[in-house]
Amino acid sequence: MECKIAVLPGDGIGPEVMEQALRVLDAVGRKFSHKFHIAQGLVGGAAYDVYRTHFPDETRKLCEQSDAILFGSVGGPVAELHLEKWRSCETSSILAIRKAFSFNANFRPVRIFPELKGLCPLRSEVVERGVDLLFIRELNGDIYFGRKENLVRDGKRVAVDVAEYTEDQIFSVTHTAFQAARKRRKKVTSVDKANVLHVSKLWREVVHEVAKEYPDVQLEDMLVDNCAMQLIRNPSQFDVVLTGNMFGDILSDEGAVLAGSLGLLASASINAQGFGLYEPPGGSAQDIAGKGVANPIAQILSAAMMLRFSFSLGNEADAIERAVSSALSAGLRTGDIASTAETPVSTAAMADKIISFI
Ligand code: IPM
Ligand code: MG
Repeated sequence: MECKIAVLPGDGIGPEVMEQALRVLDAVGRKFSHKFHIAQGLVGGAAYDVYRTHFPDETRKLCEQSDAILFGSVGGPVAELHLEKWRSCETSSILAIRKAFSFNANFRPVRIFPELKGLCPLRSEVVERGVDLLFIRELNGDIYFGRKENLVRDGKRVAVDVAEYTEDQIFSVTHTAFQAARKRRKKVTSVDKANVLHVSKLWREVVHEVAKEYPDVQLEDMLVDNCAMQLIRNPSQFDVVLTGNMFGDILSDEGAVLAGSLGLLASASINAQGFGLYEPPGGSAQDIAGKGVANPIAQILSAAMMLRFSFSLGNEADAIERAVSSALSAGLRTGDIASTAETPVSTAAMADKIISFI
């Protein structure tokens, strides 16, 4: 098959891990006789340098003309965040893209690689029960996109971010979650703060309406504070975790710790038409950028998700995921997943090994 992929490496470790993910895609393309047409575009601070905007029209057009988007990461180093280049970088790049293409459902799978069990900070008897869950995070609404305001009231500074959800937004992502659960262990845990928030009360109401259409899937409601605790206490109870935008952001990072490193996790953002953007949720990691030490696995697994979701290339995605496991079994560790006794390998060396197993 032939497909066109918009590749947006972005900032920080984005370009270096993307380079490796593209090598892996190239290897998969040759092995399975597919032609992946790669077209690179600028986003984030990298785009700002050239266009004075974080999400230029050129990049938007490139995405519109492509079959999928493979995204790296955006955002600047802590010491430079005051510069114009980095001001609102995340909001005006990745959040703008999510909105522009109505990417409303974000899939963030978390599982423990058997080879890396030791990285999970939980006790081994908890880990042994298994950790394999899928966060489905709404991505177009909530406090992220509600009215924002800075004002002065009675001589004091006040800041406002409104959390808002429409029922349609909730309906859409809830269907996505139930359909995903059907292909898994048939359980949805819907996370909210319905004891306090109006948005959460509506959330819960709509989720229960949708659930009636999926009698084969078990639904459970969980308050977000309890969920934060349960994720650590007994993560094996979870299958699909359905959340709003803000809670999903926070809980999915907590979930990442279970796997051992953000550098291992992939994500997919999908709209109602099935168009998708694939990105590692780990961020630009500017502190280690440019050194060739970042873990490329998150970006490589994001590419695998793209093959599976956008191109229905399940065997090819499996091949990548197996190759990643094999590289880990062979003992390769980048700095983020190496124990003190292990010598970390470079970004490129990890990718070389993965490619050798494809
Ligand atoms: C994520 C990130 C983004 C988010 C930031 C970079 C705006 O943390 O994808 O989880 O909050 O959604
Ligand atoms: Mg986040």
